Amino acid sequence: MTDGTNPRGMRKGLTRYGDEGFSLFLRKAFIKAMGYSDDALERPIIGIADTGSDYNACHASVPRLVAAVKRGVMLAGGLPMAFPTISLHESFSHPTSMFLRNLMAMDTEEMVRAQPMDAVVLIGGCDKTIPAQLMAAASADVPALVLPTGPMMTGHWRGERLGACTDCRRFWGMYRAGELDDEEIEDVNDRLAPTAGTCMVMGTASTMACMTEALGMMLPGGATIPAVHADRERFAERTGRRAVEIAAEDLRPERIMTRDAFHNALVTLQAIGGSTNGLVHITAVARRLGIGIDLEEFDSIGRRVPVLVDLKPSGDHYMEHLHDAGGLNAVLRELRSELRTEAFTVSGRTLGENIEIGDRVPGQTVVRTRSDPIHPSGGMAVLRGNLAPGGAVIKHSAASPRLLDHTGRAVVFDSLADLAARVDDPDLDVEPDDVLVLRGAGPKGAPGMPEAGYIPIPKKLAARGVKDMVRLSDARMSGTAFGTIVLHVTPESAIGGPLALVETGDRIRLDAGARRLDLLVPEEEITARRERWTPPPPHPGSERGYLRLFLDTVTQADRGCDFDFMGRPGPSSVRPAPGA
Ligand code: FES
Repeated sequence: MTDGTNPRGMRKGLTRYGDEGFSLFLRKAFIKAMGYSDDALERPIIGIADTGSDYNACHASVPRLVAAVKRGVMLAGGLPMAFPTISLHESFSHPTSMFLRNLMAMDTEEMVRAQPMDAVVLIGGCDKTIPAQLMAAASADVPALVLPTGPMMTGHWRGERLGACTDCRRFWGMYRAGELDDEEIEDVNDRLAPTAGTCMVMGTASTMACMTEALGMMLPGGATIPAVHADRERFAERTGRRAVEIAAEDLRPERIMTRDAFHNALVTLQAIGGSTNGLVHITAVARRLGIGIDLEEFDSIGRRVPVLVDLKPSGDHYMEHLHDAGGLNAVLRELRSELRTEAFTVSGRTLGENIEIGDRVPGQTVVRTRSDPIHPSGGMAVLRGNLAPGGAVIKHSAASPRLLDHTGRAVVFDSLADLAARVDDPDLDVEPDDVLVLRGAGPKGAPGMPEAGYIPIPKKLAARGVKDMVRLSDARMSGTAFGTIVLHVTPESAIGGPLALVETGDRIRLDAGARRLDLLVPEEEITARRERWTPPPPHPGSERGYLRLFLDTVTQADRGCDFDFMGRPGPSSVRPAPGA
């Protein structure tokens, strides 16, 4: 179990007592208290990050997945050892799960490194979990495979198919507009999330699962198998088997997550009409490996690669339909000429080889061809301008086309509290052509850059039938949301970004075609406002603990909102392949 220089299995990472023989003796004495034999303890050890939690319905199936992974590990001659890590659910994380993503990444990285394991299976699913696990895998550099919990099945209400959480927002909007009564909205609430698993639209969880498959850190096919299908457990078993092999091969994440692999993930993000969060997360993962994500390059991929997947919120279907249509492989096959197919994956094959052996589903209509896409360009565009010198993003595939070239009067909300207090005030001076601006909602400002970018349409306009307005903020947005919404305005207002200088009544111009976002105020006036600007007061409790670490070290969205000391120095950008 050891080659003398590279300890394996139980001999790995011995606790330091100053006597390695004693450290191993003691370790084995304690592990034997759980009934393990010497034969078991001589096997390669496969750690399994168990993120089951009573607070996390998206991970309700994790106990079954852990059992299936263990079966696979044992069938391949390894010793499976599950261990708990932080688990994050979107609706049970105050103030926002993004605040805790870096903590989960640290927890996972340190436990993978501290405990003896020759490879690890990372069971994730809900939005921030797979990003945290990929960040951890990149830094720990222990052979690793990601196993997603898989998407939920859809529900139905009065004959209409429902999905979390695009339809959560749609029905809530109808309720706010008075189109549904209290009883009806409660009825809908019962049916939006009918099974275990992650949100079944192309939200952040589905986006990250697809990007992880394209990145090569998951076995082929794993992104889309529904959480409650028996095949999900067979996939988990396969993952466990393969984990034993990658332990023997010492196939580390650094060999998988290369510049080419990140390019493939970015192409996928554009083609699936994925969540804007996917860009922030993949930037954080890449930065852990010293690879920079070039926003202009991402935008240029979007100009070449159309949205191919007909899934909500950009289209009509749900993840179970994408699975039935051949899963992500059907998308990758159609994108082949844009991908770097020589990128190696945890399957032991290249991405191109995986694509060749994947299922083909004749006659399916969920994954379109490049000549007949859902949206003529990629899902996302990167904006620059005097309001966003560090960049901003818009998911234009889920926006109202008429608003993508729009100039309007700013109506400014200073914080989330200000938004909550005033947005539904019948006296709020707001018209449908105005631009709603929310600030104080960035990585340091909120803190944690919550998914508040989906600013609600003011009630009095919603009641008049207004469904969409141009909205912009330094916040993020759920991948399940839709509308003409500009996000991740960088630098954020809390550190004095130009967003801090906007005043109600200013004119703002969004020109998504030209990739511009501008405050139409004379430069001298902007300079005068900057000189008068004072930073917001410190957050309560920010003098200590995790909040202090977060506020002191979190980076802006263009660097992935990771802690500044977690990346590798000297990022080199993801660049297009010759001829791409
Ligand atoms: Fe967990 Fe949507 S709330 S994936």
